[in-house]
Amino acid sequence: MGKENPYILAIESSCDETSAAVLHGRKSLSNIIASQKVHEKYGGVVPELASRAHQANIVPVVHQALEAAGVEMKQLDAVAFTQGPGLTGSLLVGTAFAKSMSLALNIPLIAVNHMQAHVLAHFIADNDEQTFPSFPFLCLTVSGGHTQIVRVDMPLTMSVIGETIDDAAGEAFDKAAKVLGLPYPGGPEVDKLARTGNALRFSFPHPQVPGFDYSFSGLKTSLLYLLRDIRFETAKADNSLLADICASYQKTIVDYLLVKFKGASVKLGITQLCLAGGVSANSELRNRFTAMCSSEKCDGFIPPFAYCTDNAAMIGIAAYFKFMAGDFASLHFTPKAKMEF
Ligand code: KG4
Ligand code: ZN
Repeated sequence: MGKENPYILAIESSCDETSAAVLHGRKSLSNIIASQKVHEKYGGVVPELASRAHQANIVPVVHQALEAAGVEMKQLDAVAFTQGPGLTGSLLVGTAFAKSMSLALNIPLIAVNHMQAHVLAHFIADNDEQTFPSFPFLCLTVSGGHTQIVRVDMPLTMSVIGETIDDAAGEAFDKAAKVLGLPYPGGPEVDKLARTGNALRFSFPHPQVPGFDYSFSGLKTSLLYLLRDIRFETAKADNSLLADICASYQKTIVDYLLVKFKGASVKLGITQLCLAGGVSANSELRNRFTAMCSSEKCDGFIPPFAYCTDNAAMIGIAAYFKFMAGDFASLHFTPKAKMEF
C-alpha cells in the first residue's frame, strides 16, 4: 500500500466485549467498548447471548468509534477484525461485519489473532513520552482464556514458549470469585477485596509443572478445601476473612506467574519484559512485576488499563503491522475458535 499512516477501523468481538477503534498509524483516535451486562446473572459468558448482543451493539459501536475519531468512512484505508481465538458465534459477527465494510468501501481486509494483539498493545502510541519494548522481548499474556509466555522477535514474529496446561490465570480468579459468592467477572472483585486483606493468612500450593508451562486448575480445588475446612459459610461473618482469602489466593497466583516468568527471562537472557491481557489490570501483579523488573535490572512494560482487557485498539495496532507488511485477508477467511500464532 505504501501509506505510512493508514487509517484503520478495527473490530473486536471474540468474547463478551463489542469494541471498535480507529487508528491513524500507531495512534489510537478512538476505542469504544460495549461490555455485555447480560451475562452477569449467569456468573459467566453465555455464548449464544454474547453473539446476539454483538449483533445489537456492532453498528452503534462502529458508528461511535468513527465519530469519536472524527474520521469518515471514505478516509479508511483498511478494516480489521479478530479472526480468533474466541467464541465462534461472537467472532462471526465481527468477521461478517468487517467483510461487508471491506466490500462496500473497496478497502483491504485484515485478519488479526487476538492473542498477538494483546502482545502488540504495547506499541499503541498515545503520547510523546512513551517508551516501547525493544526486540527480542518476553510477554506474559494473562487473560480469561489464556496464560502464555511469548517470545517476541519482531512485531509479527512471536512464539509461545510456555502456557497453561489447563485453566487460565483469569479463570482462576473468576472461579474463585464464584465460589466466594462475588459477582462476575471476579478478577477485579478479588483484586479490590485483596487490598485490605492479609496475604499471609492462608497458603496455597504452587502446582509443579515442568518448563515454562503453568497449571491453575488445582488452585481452585485447594480453595474449595480451605472453604470447607474453615466452614466458610458460617465463618464469613468475620469481616476480614473474605479479604484475607482473596489476598492470599491472589498472592499465590501472582507469585506463581512471576516465578516462572523470571525463570524464562534468566534462562533466555532476555531483559525486556512485558505484561498483557485482562489480568495485567491486577494491581498486585502490576506492582510486583514492576518491583521484580527493577530488582532483576530488566525493563518492564505494562499497558495502560484501557489496553489490558479486551479492546479494539489492540486489534488496530496488530492490523497496522500487518498493513505495513502487506498481509491482507480475503473474503474467504472464516473465524477460528482456536488459533495458533
Ligand atoms: O483479556 P481479557 O479482557 O479477555 C480475554 O481475552 O479473556 O481478560 C479477562 C480476564 C477475566 O478473567 C477477568 O476476571 C480478568 O481478566 N481481570 C482481572 C482484573 N481485571 C480483569 N483479574 C484480576 N485482577 C483484575 N484487576
Ligand atoms: Zn483477550
